[in-house]
Amino acid sequence: MSPASRRIAHPCLLLVLFLAGYCERAAAVTLSTSSRWIVDQAGHRVKLACVNWPSHLEPVVTEGLGRQPVGAIAGMVVSLGFNCVRLTYPIALATNASLSSLTVRQSLMAHGLAETAGGVEVNNPGFLDLTLIESLKAVVNALGEKDVMVILDNHVSSPGWCCGNDDGNGFFGDRDFEPDVWVDGLANMATTFADVPNVVGMSLRNELRGPRQNPDDWYTYMQRGAEAVHAANPRALVIMGGLSYDYDLSFLAARQVGVSFAAKGKLVFEVHWYSFSDARAWETENANEVCGRAARDFARRGGFLIARGFPLFLSEFGADLRGRDLKDNRFFPCAAAVAAEHDLDWAYWALQGSYALRQGVTGMDEVYGVLDWSWSKPRNETVLPRIQALQRPIQGPGYGEALPYTMLFHPLTGLCAARCAAAAAATTLELVPCNETDAWAYAPPSSTLVLRDATAVGLPCLRAEGRGQPARLGVKACGDALSTWRLASDSGMHVAVDAAPGLGGGGDDAGGMLCLDVGADGRSIVTNPCACLRGDGTCDPERQWFKLVTSTRRVAHRPAALA
Ligand SMILES: *[C@@H]1O[C@H](CO)[C@@H](O)[C@H](O)[C@H]1NC(C)=O
Ligand SMILES: *[C@@H]1O[C@H](CO)[C@@H](O)[C@H](O)[C@H]1NC(C)=O
Ligand SMILES: *[C@@H]1O[C@H](CO)[C@@H](O)[C@H](O)[C@H]1NC(C)=O
Repeated sequence: MSPASRRIAHPCLLLVLFLAGYCERAAAVTLSTSSRWIVDQAGHRVKLACVNWPSHLEPVVTEGLGRQPVGAIAGMVVSLGFNCVRLTYPIALATNASLSSLTVRQSLMAHGLAETAGGVEVNNPGFLDLTLIESLKAVVNALGEKDVMVILDNHVSSPGWCCGNDDGNGFFGDRDFEPDVWVDGLANMATTFADVPNVVGMSLRNELRGPRQNPDDWYTYMQRGAEAVHAANPRALVIMGGLSYDYDLSFLAARQVGVSFAAKGKLVFEVHWYSFSDARAWETENANEVCGRAARDFARRGGFLIARGFPLFLSEFGADLRGRDLKDNRFFPCAAAVAAEHDLDWAYWALQGSYALRQGVTGMDEVYGVLDWSWSKPRNETVLPRIQALQRPIQGPGYGEALPYTMLFHPLTGLCAARCAAAAAATTLELVPCNETDAWAYAPPSSTLVLRDATAVGLPCLRAEGRGQPARLGVKACGDALSTWRLASDSGMHVAVDAAPGLGGGGDDAGGMLCLDVGADGRSIVTNPCACLRGDGTCDPERQWFKLVTSTRRVAHRPAALA
């Protein structure tokens, strides 16, 4: 067996870890919204930590069925910590009977994919003679057996890779995007899956775009689509994406969506974010400045909806997991910091290690895929924690604590800074999983960094001791220059003190500041001259990025600290 399948744990165990004991309820999930949170029937937050899994390409066969048994794929979704899948489909599957009644075998053979058909015969023999719509249902059921929630996403009209401005699928009225057909398709799909307990939401349409796009038609048709879905399945969340490839929901600042079921708490908005929309900036400009700008832009194009009392689902974001793409290496920790700051619901793009057929290429690799080409194991174990760090809710109803505290989140590793566990009286810090974080008190834009239980351990505040030296907790002169931390760059993620030159501040653009950093061992927290603060587009600041994230989640006691 592959290493990946050995790691598959019992789903209940994982649900206990990730949903804090909701196991017995997980079979039939009805979600609704409570201000910006998505909650279950008990009013407890359910954070969507999803992964995208496509079924919208030409054959309309869920990717991967030719590579691994569906139960094994669903098991990997769970073992990797995702609680949900955003499962894509073309509207034609719900409106074109001659398509939906094709069998998996017929559709694959019609696209010259005999090898994939052979793979399905080996891995998922029961699927070969299912119709395409039955096959999609069987995938949903396989996820349900593992208590994985599903959001059905209408990705395109006609099957095929998405998206282009002029592919006829971009906006209402385009060649293959007749609004009435679309509304019928959504209603059919919602009806077909209304009784399937793990289908928790319907995403109305992926990445609207192109020359026809405009807010007026958006309101007209998205509201109609929403009503059709809600009428057919009143249990489901109704998820609306924006314009310009789901980059832009800013028009909602001026005008609310009007739907008859507004009071039912079912409306969620979705937004996308990739490095390639600012590719040149990420590649050539200073990463702090690009990150600061991109984060402000995120707030403008969708983030503001949270403060308006709507959940915002970051339903596509991702990165080349081989670590070879400069723009993605800079973008991903920035986006992860924003996702952690707002504790967003999200769906990573993507699960698939490869495609049966994409853009005319058979067996195309997906370098963003969490699974490798063969769908048998994670593509890159090293970077998984960066994604997994975002899976755990850190705020919201049902997660304990009244008193907010600060976490020192290190988005590059997906870990958090906490007091070393080795000795009870340890005065230095190390990176630990964020579920084992310490609770810090910090008042932006400039204050001491104090352990919330500081008086108990007699270690009030964090201090810089010099270049390359560990940042240390102690009682000495709290609030002097070396223990007054401020957020020193545009990204808001350089956590810095002013240091006398003798302490090794100095440096070219560091302006005498020392910043929190990760030591050469990759684990200890030290201070070093602040790097790449501004201007320079050739250096990488990500190692010094610490996002001060507010949490209200009960702090877990780390095993070693208990001993
Ligand atoms: C319906 O699907 C069939 C099979 O893929 C296809 O040949 C036909 O063109 C489709 N009809 C429409 C109206 O798109
Ligand atoms: C995994 O990601 C790391 C960090 O980006 C990179 O250095 C490494 O080469 C990647 N490994 C594989 C197998 O792609
Ligand atoms: C935190 O999560 C890790 C897995 O990432 C787990 O091994 C550990 O037991 C968890 N710690 C606590 C205190 O729950």
